Amino acid sequence: MSSPKRPHQHSSRLKPAAPLTPYGNRPMVTPIVHAVNYEYLNFEVLRQITDGEVDGYTYHRDDNPTVRAVECQIARLEGAEDCVVCTSGMAACTMVYLTYLRAGDHLLLFHDIYGAHYKVSLILERLGVDITWVDAADWRNLAKHIRPNTRMIFLETPSNPLCKVVDIRAVRKMADRVGAMLVVDNTFATPFHQHPLELGAHLVVHSATKALGGHNDLMAGAIAGSKDDYDKLWFTRQAIGTTLDAYSASLLERGLKTFPLRAERMAQNALAVANHLAKCPGISNLRYPGLKSDEGHRAAVRQMRNGYGGMMAFDVGRTQADAKRFVSALKTIRHAVSLGSTESLICIPFLTTMLYMPPERRTSFGVRPHSVRLSVGVEPIADLLADLDQALRRIPQAKSRKRNPPTGPQPATAS
Ligand SMILES: Cc1ncc(COP(=O)(O)O)c(C=O)c1O
Repeated sequence: MSSPKRPHQHSSRLKPAAPLTPYGNRPMVTPIVHAVNYEYLNFEVLRQITDGEVDGYTYHRDDNPTVRAVECQIARLEGAEDCVVCTSGMAACTMVYLTYLRAGDHLLLFHDIYGAHYKVSLILERLGVDITWVDAADWRNLAKHIRPNTRMIFLETPSNPLCKVVDIRAVRKMADRVGAMLVVDNTFATPFHQHPLELGAHLVVHSATKALGGHNDLMAGAIAGSKDDYDKLWFTRQAIGTTLDAYSASLLERGLKTFPLRAERMAQNALAVANHLAKCPGISNLRYPGLKSDEGHRAAVRQMRNGYGGMMAFDVGRTQADAKRFVSALKTIRHAVSLGSTESLICIPFLTTMLYMPPERRTSFGVRPHSVRLSVGVEPIADLLADLDQALRRIPQAKSRKRNPPTGPQPATAS
């Protein structure tokens, strides 16, 4: 049995009552509560729990104490009133869509967001939501796509995979003209570098699978916002059953303990890697918001802090065969999807995260068949630079020491 009144209890106090030992001292780590249901002492206790008068749990789909502990921690990191944690980043995004959109609403999406949104967009269109896709590089002209029925603008900054930077404050101003909600996926930036709620977003979404967890061993999502949003999103989670399991919540809590240390190191490493790659023959269209030459740098300076994160994108050589040769030659940097982990990870988005898009969509906003996305980890920087250099020597253009070709549109051959 579950109890839809439940959120009012939690949303009114962010700090969960940590379970105590029989001796009254607090454990240093939130215990993993595996129970999916809880015995009621009597009917009066049941009433008090469901009316939100006392702290208590009834059923896992409603809530779980281990999950609740990480919700409170992520809310604090994002400067939010509260947070709902769920089974994955895409579950979080889909919960946002299902909670706030209805048939006839218009949704503005940027091409430059994680590829699975394309699949979710097909489901939303089936349910009667009207969707317009915009290039994130064109955010200054977003107003021309906004309609009276635009209900939501969803963006990532820096974006996946090309690390384009969108000015959150400016987009919020545009959204306000029609009262649209602004939702920002903060997975690439992380709360160490960017607080979208302070900049005007109504909601912040995370794939906590990435830097918040940080060790490639859990899948989770998070949505941070106001108490009122918590209630609405809690209702959706409770209805559809996307509550995170307690073990993953505990791993996430463990990841959060070192999150600021990891985020700081990743950003330092990434800046050093980007500065190095900018001088390397065979690399073009390098995108990292921390580089002064990057077109998103000025907006990034306005809205990011403590550095610019661990993510970057660039083209290798001239063909996909060049990019494959480069990726295959890397040893310290691992060929894998996902991001934000202690290990550096690299992938070719055209073949991975964007695989399910129609071919013309995959390249329409700047991704090329030989573009790679690099998530810089916490390894010693000398190891990372040496690894990149030895792999680049496999690329013909890099060997001939030609100048780094200028950034901008250029044809590419898939192979
Ligand atoms: C920016 C971003 N948002 C959301 C997601 C989806 O997260 P998950 O894989 O946890 O569902 C991803 C996945 O890579 C992502 O990169």
